[in-house]
Amino acid sequence: MDISVIGTGYVGLVSGTCFSEIGHNVTCIDIDPEKINKLKDGISPIHEPGLTDYLKSNFAKGRLHFTTSYDSVKNASAVFLAVGTPSLPNGDANLDYLFQALDNVLETNTESIIVIKSTVPVGTSSQIKDHISKKGFKNPIVNNPEFLREGSAVSDFLKPDRIVLGFTNEKAGETIAELYKPLVRQGNPIYSMSNLSAEMTKYASNSFLAAKVSFINEVARLCDATGADIQEVKKGMSSDQRIGSQFLYPGPGYGGSCFPKDVKALKATADKYKVNLKLIPSIDMTNDDQKNYIAEKVINHFEGNLKGKKITLWGVAFKANTDDVRETPALNIYEKLEKAGANINFYDPCAGENFLKLTSNNISQSQDMYEALEDSEALIVVTEWREFQTPDFSRIKDKMKTPLIFDFRNLFETEQVLKNGFTYYSIGKNS
Ligand SMILES: NC(=O)c1ccc[n+]([C@@H]2O[C@H](COP(=O)([O-])OP(=O)(O)OC[C@H]3O[C@@H](n4cnc5c(N)ncnc54)[C@H](O)[C@@H]3O)[C@@H](O)[C@H]2O)c1
Repeated sequence: MDISVIGTGYVGLVSGTCFSEIGHNVTCIDIDPEKINKLKDGISPIHEPGLTDYLKSNFAKGRLHFTTSYDSVKNASAVFLAVGTPSLPNGDANLDYLFQALDNVLETNTESIIVIKSTVPVGTSSQIKDHISKKGFKNPIVNNPEFLREGSAVSDFLKPDRIVLGFTNEKAGETIAELYKPLVRQGNPIYSMSNLSAEMTKYASNSFLAAKVSFINEVARLCDATGADIQEVKKGMSSDQRIGSQFLYPGPGYGGSCFPKDVKALKATADKYKVNLKLIPSIDMTNDDQKNYIAEKVINHFEGNLKGKKITLWGVAFKANTDDVRETPALNIYEKLEKAGANINFYDPCAGENFLKLTSNNISQSQDMYEALEDSEALIVVTEWREFQTPDFSRIKDKMKTPLIFDFRNLFETEQVLKNGFTYYSIGKNS
């Protein structure tokens, strides 16, 4: 099938590349010429494990194309809209990019199926339908929210837990379901539902996952206060199959381009429909508290006196295996400590350049995780990169001015860290 994918970000580029991998002829379109030029040279503008190999091989086979021009859309049977839907100041999703992309598509193709891959608030498909029909066209609309995770996006896309399709036009729904069949051979389901339900499913899923993170973070804070141990508590909780073990890792707070904005957008939907919610709005407030809680742990250790002290962050990406720094908890730590007078240095395997674009002064980047620690008065582990998990503690100690670790991913064994002579802070670990 001829497919166009609009937007070559984390979702669009992975979707387009994976569709070409299963044999479709895919054109990826983006308004950013720099991204498109890189892609034409076989360079992925994002860090996503496995992506570059698929990208290069399908590009070489001539079934994956990159362009800034919408001309190619005229041949597409399905056009996937995968542009960003960031938060507006009131928390609602900004749909300007989506409607801009839609208008560009409609200039050349008034028949293809419009597939909404972007995360969009409940009711957006109706707005799109009205918009299209006002122009006198009849393109069918399918909602197909994406559930991939950055850091494992390629394998998530190729082996989805489920595919969700929202549609009223049966033929269009069947066409898109057919497209996904090679990816669900193991029996994973394709769920057909109304457009509204598909839109809600995405927000409900992300908000639920964010709630799990916020929940365990609050329990970890209680463990810090009471002396219970979050690792023991987690084991005790997660052996209950109703609870499960996933997404129960205390940390510095969730970040990324999805959870923060999607929780806010769901609350904005509730406000729009005048539904009084308590739980969902508190997910985000708890997350902000968590980000502040960890910064305060550091500030309190130094009794507020961080002036001129070199503090090193290991990891600035919002999670491991990605270069995405949108809403990363590292930014909050940086801002709070920098304000308290600290000189922040950091090392990250691949998110450094993106992070420097968010920060202004008193920050430096190192290219080596140990060199980064030279003369540091504290090491703060922010991202759970694998290379941080079993470090050489004596090397760390030799480099640092004072042996002090804030392990905000609970990566290290307390006993081992203490044995090596460090002062050690974690989140909710008391053994
Ligand atoms: N990132 C994730 O992990 C993830 C997962 C599931 C769903 N989503 C959702 O998918 C959507 C895209 O997210 P993302 O992280 O890939 O965004 P992104 O910011 O990485 O990429 C969006 C891309 O769209 C391009 N773009 C904007 N307007 C355009 C236009 N008119 N024509 C062509 N290109 C245009 C931008 O230049 C950019 O490259 C969002 O709604 C997001 O909520 C994201």
